[in-house]
Amino acid sequence: MRILEVGSGPGFYTEQLVGQLPHSVITALEVDSALLNEARNRIDPQFSSQLEFVHASVYDTGLPDNTYDFVIARLLFLHLKDPLTAAREISRVLKPGGKLVIIDVDDGIFGALHPNLPMLPSVLQKVADYVAANGGNRLIGRSLPRLLKQADYTDVDMDSILQHSDLIGIDGFRYQFDSRRFMGLNQNGVITQEELDHMKQASENLNTSSEAYAMLNFVMACGTKARS
Ligand SMILES: C[S@@+](CC[C@H](N)C(=O)[O-])C[C@H]1O[C@@H](n2cnc3c(N)ncnc32)[C@H](O)[C@@H]1O
Repeated sequence: MRILEVGSGPGFYTEQLVGQLPHSVITALEVDSALLNEARNRIDPQFSSQLEFVHASVYDTGLPDNTYDFVIARLLFLHLKDPLTAAREISRVLKPGGKLVIIDVDDGIFGALHPNLPMLPSVLQKVADYVAANGGNRLIGRSLPRLLKQADYTDVDMDSILQHSDLIGIDGFRYQFDSRRFMGLNQNGVITQEELDHMKQASENLNTSSEAYAMLNFVMACGTKARS
C-alpha cells in the first residue's frame, strides 16, 4: 500500500508504520520543519527507501490526485481551524476506494487516573480553552462522523480506543502526564502555579505509586473515498 501520514510530528507513529508495514511506502507530511527533521532523525536509515518526508500543510499538500490507499491522521484534527478543508484535501489524494483513519481526542470521554486528581478536570478545561483560542477543538472526536460525511466519504464508522496501563504498561502514560509538558502552560499563563504543582503530583503518583493506573480513551473514525 501507499500510505500517507498527515501531521506526522516527531515521527512516533511513522516509526511504527515503517517497522510494521515493510511492504508499504510511507509518506510523512508535516507543516513544522523542526518536527519533520526530528522525525527524519528518529527513523532508522534502513527504512529510507520505504519512506518520504513532505514539508506541507494538510490543507494544501501539493501531492498528486488519487495516489494513496490509506491516510492516517493521529492527533492532528484537534488542532485544525478548518477540518473540513483538510478532510477534502485528503480525499483528493486518496485513491477511489482508499481509506482515511483519524485518531483523535474528545475530552468528554477523556478517561481516568488513579490516584485521582481533583484539579484534573479544571486543568483539562483550561487546556481545551487554550487549544480553542488557537483555532483547535478538543471535543473534535464527536464531530468526526459528521465531518467525514460532509466531505463525501462513504462507509463512515467510528470506535473508541481505550488504553489501560494495567494492560499496556504505564510508561506511555507517564510521558502524557510528565509535568515538564505542563510547564509551558504555566509559563504562558494558561494554568496557575497551584495547578502546575497538582499536575506534578499526578506525574509523581504515576511514577511512584504501586497502586497507580491510567485509562485513556481516544476516538477512531474512518471513511472511504467513493469509487465513482
Ligand atoms: C499532537 S501532534 C501529533 C503528531 C503525530 N501525529 C503523533 O501522533 O505523534 C500534531 C501535529 O500536527 C501538526 N500540524 C498542525 N497543523 C498542521 C497542518 N495544517 N498541516 C500539517 N500538519 C499540521 C503539528 O505541527 C504537529 O506536529
